[in-house]
Amino acid sequence: MQEIFDKANTIHEEIKGATPATAEEVEQFRIKYLGSKGLLKELFGFMGQLPNERKKEYGQLMNTLKAAAEAKLEELKTAFENGSISNKEIPDLTAPAYQFPLGTRHPLSIIKNRMIEIFSRIGFTVAEGPEIEDDWHNFTALNTPADHPARDMQDTFFLTDDKQWMLRTHTSSVQIRKMESEKPPMKYIFPGRVYRNETISARAHCTFHQVEGLYIDENVSFADLKQTMLYFAQEMFGRNVEVRFRPSFFPFTEPSAEVDISCFVCSGKGCPVCKHSGWVEIGGCGMVDPAVMENCKIDTRKYTGFAFGMGIERITMLKFQINDLRLFFENDIRFLKQFESAV
Ligand code: PHE
Repeated sequence: MQEIFDKANTIHEEIKGATPATAEEVEQFRIKYLGSKGLLKELFGFMGQLPNERKKEYGQLMNTLKAAAEAKLEELKTAFENGSISNKEIPDLTAPAYQFPLGTRHPLSIIKNRMIEIFSRIGFTVAEGPEIEDDWHNFTALNTPADHPARDMQDTFFLTDDKQWMLRTHTSSVQIRKMESEKPPMKYIFPGRVYRNETISARAHCTFHQVEGLYIDENVSFADLKQTMLYFAQEMFGRNVEVRFRPSFFPFTEPSAEVDISCFVCSGKGCPVCKHSGWVEIGGCGMVDPAVMENCKIDTRKYTGFAFGMGIERITMLKFQINDLRLFFENDIRFLKQFESAV
């Protein structure tokens, strides 16, 4: 009879000293002591073997044991909740999620999107055209004479021997497609890939990207073009940037200009980015040549327009101060990952 009391006391000590450390061990503890086939149940079963005068004492001991086991469970539960014991089996629902290894946007995409965003704020809509072009859209309709150097095999990737099909050499071909298929007013930007038969170097590649702009309406003037370029330059490179227009030549614009911005790195004082000139070139532009509009059956007595073309690589290299164009096409992840928090 005393053994029954002894056993109960031993179990009481066991309960008090138990240190389950994981969710599984806590559950084992519960099953072992409080489960329907647990030790406490078994101990209660001994009641019948005891003489009546000790039953009350045993009953009280049993209650103490049960309370101790329950208190222990409660204590463990709180320890889990406040994190003082780790829980390896039950996932911690309050933990932050695993990070998915997300890719990063290519620097050219970052800048292309930025350019689209800047121009769309002043009413330009994005449109696209094919990369495989015919002679009409890439050259002839753009007023480009037969002896123009761009029509040379050394400059253009022709796809047919008769030079009627080629990889477009500029996004200006999309101007023609839009002017042929729509009536003014029109205000578009054409982002896209272009191809030139160039030797690959730090400054040139056989494929690169441009954003072309075209605005045709009544009374569009060179002043509108200048203001648009100034707006873009300041949105992209900073409010203090100035623009300068150098007379230039393109077969499809008249007059034509090259657009420079004051160096946003040294504010015009001279540094390696602007090669100590204080200015950097960002693109070409001009008033759409009336001959080009007439090729597309647009009434030149009523409408005028401007166009511009900028290299996305060039703007990106300036913006991020990248000195080798080839980096854009090598897909070296160490390079590509540097721009995720940029802009
Ligand atoms: N198409 C020209 C180029 O690729 C850029 C340009 C576009 C110039 C529109 C004037 C107007 O160099």
